[in-house]
Parts: sequence; structure tokens; C-alpha cells
Amino acid sequence: MSNPFTVSLVCWHDGEPLLRAIREAVFIREQGVPEELEWDEFDETCRHALALSLSGEAIGCGRILPTGHIGRIAVMQPWRKQKVGTAIMEALLDEARSRKYQFVDVDAQVHAVPFYQGFGFTPQGKEFLDAGLPHIKMTLELKPR
Ligand SMILES: CC(C)(COP(=O)(O)OP(=O)(O)OC[C@H]1O[C@@H](n2cnc3c(N)ncnc32)[C@H](O)[C@@H]1OP(=O)(O)O)[C@@H](O)C(=O)NCCC(=O)NCCS
Repeated sequence: MSNPFTVSLVCWHDGEPLLRAIREAVFIREQGVPEELEWDEFDETCRHALALSLSGEAIGCGRILPTGHIGRIAVMQPWRKQKVGTAIMEALLDEARSRKYQFVDVDAQVHAVPFYQGFGFTPQGKEFLDAGLPHIKMTLELKPR
């Protein structure tokens, strides 16, 4: 059966209102990340993944920097554990492969480590705090498909 949602890659210019709405709900309101830390200059240079329900509701997002750093992976609460996050990661990893990146990395919130391990990411180094939340760096070597 096909997914009840779609994921597309967009630039910040095209996706900004919907991407902002998801990240405000998940990171700022739910997780308490300060607004001034959530928004940065990197959004303009990133490729963003945007998940939409079939009725057009914005339900999830993520981004990849030109360095291969993946971040801001967020799925709206009612849509979790339905593979939306997986589809967002697959879109960003496909983008990384098409750019011939050899490695990608994430700063994973510690609770989400098993989510990233599912794609083959491995933890590196020690935990650290970012926006008051415990994180750990994880990396993945990409094999061409
Ligand atoms: C982390 C997050 C993006 C996962 O999205 P999701 O759509 O629920 O994930 P999926 O349904 O694709 O899950 C894929 C796998 O990861 C596992 N998983 C997902 N979230 C998990 C979590 N928080 N802890 C442990 N495992 C998790 C699922 O159980 C699933 O495993 P399975 O294939 O064995 O069933 C989502 O929980 C979220 O937005 N959380 C709040 C924001 C956040 O913390 N983002 C991460 C920042 S680093």
C-alpha cells in the first residue's frame, strides 16, 4: 500500500511557511528550543525535505547542509511512528548520494539515537548539550547505489 503522505525536496524560499510551522510546533513549542537557536543562516543554503499529508497538511521536515550535515528532522506528533521520519531521511540520504557525499552526519537528540541507527548511523564521541537537550554526533558512510 502506498504511503498516506508525500515527501518532496524544496528550497527554503519555496517551503518556508510550512517548514516554519512544523519546526515551531515540534522544536519550539513541544521541546522548548529557544526561537533564537531554532532559526539560523543555514536554512537558506540547505535542501529541505517536506512531508505533506494527502490533504496537503504539513506533517514533517528535515534539512541537509552543503557539508552533508543533516538536521531539524521533525514529525508532527499525530503522525509519528508511521514512517514519515523514515521517508524524510531517505529523501535526504538520496540527495546526499546524488551529490556524491561520502559521509553524512547528524547531531542526534539522545532519545532519537535508535531512529538514526536504523539508517546505519553510528554514535561518535561524547554526549553534549545543545539548546538544553542532550545530543550525540552520529555519522554514516554512504555507499553508492
Ligand atoms: C524522531 C522522529 C523524527 C521520528 O519520526 P517518526 O516518523 O516517528 O519515525 P518512523 O516512524 O519513521 O520510525 C522509524 C523507526 O525509528 C524508531 N523510532 C522513531 N522515533 C523514535 C524515538 N524517538 N526513539 C526510539 N525509536 C524511535 C521507530 O520505532 C521505527 O522503528 P521500526 O522501524 O523498528 O518500527 C520523531 O519522533 C520526532 O519528530 N520527534 C521530535 C523531534 C525530534 O526529536 N527530532 C529529532 C532531532 S535529532
